Amino acid sequence: MPWNERKLTDRVGVELTGARIGPGLSKADRQAVYNATSTYGAAVLPGQDLSDDDIFDFAASLEDEVVEDKALEGVRQTRVMPLGNVDVDGNILPADDWVLAQNLANELWHVDRTFMIPRATISMLYGKTVPPEGGNTEFCDTRLFWEAMPEQERARLSSMKCSHSLMHSRARYGFDNWTQEALDRFPPVERPMIAEQKRTGRIALILASHICAIEGLSNDDALALVDDLIDRATVPANVYSHQWREGDLVLWDNRCVMHRARPFDMAVHARDVRAIRLYDPANI
Ligand SMILES: [Fe+2]
Repeated sequence: MPWNERKLTDRVGVELTGARIGPGLSKADRQAVYNATSTYGAAVLPGQDLSDDDIFDFAASLEDEVVEDKALEGVRQTRVMPLGNVDVDGNILPADDWVLAQNLANELWHVDRTFMIPRATISMLYGKTVPPEGGNTEFCDTRLFWEAMPEQERARLSSMKCSHSLMHSRARYGFDNWTQEALDRFPPVERPMIAEQKRTGRIALILASHICAIEGLSNDDALALVDDLIDRATVPANVYSHQWREGDLVLWDNRCVMHRARPFDMAVHARDVRAIRLYDPANI
């Protein structure tokens, strides 16, 4: 296999170098990227040169299905989602831009699409233009948190059912400017607090700032528990913080990691990254 693997921290993340994403990449080498992402939680492939079509074709060649949602009213429909703070011409967007304001809540620890069906398995981000400082993406492996947890607490969490809501995480960041279409499309989705990651057989938490309620707990107790778990899960030993370079393709497995965006000076620096997500039709 052409990939050289280098661990990014003792326990989270791996860098894969030595090959280019493109039509010449073998099926086995594509699978190796997928497997490394699941094993290490996140994989960084630096020095790639990818168009949106290249990103889509690579995602579509992996073992899961590509998520293709209809864009919300007023949002441009694309196969690969532009994320960042620039318009189609590369101009920096005003701070009150609707998509930008809504996406600020990505600075909270979360798991992609737990508030929707299907949830995401693998997510990918490609760095086209990245700020010279700030704007890291951080990954926390919740398998490590689970594996270090006392048995009594594991037993308590094992039977918990949590409701995940897009509106809830956005409200925690002060955003509530929703269209009726969005409110209708995103009712809360219930998920267990823990789940086995099938490929590795390890247990991870489906823990995210999207959790708005936990069955059997008062609202205050549920939110306090989520905050406490996130605090304890995200100790430095369980986290990899990725500092972006242009040409980085970063993948993570939402079945075992939470992630969050870190701030950068959005009034000064441009950021244009492209996102795509996969899902597993057998486990939505
Ligand atoms: Fe995300």
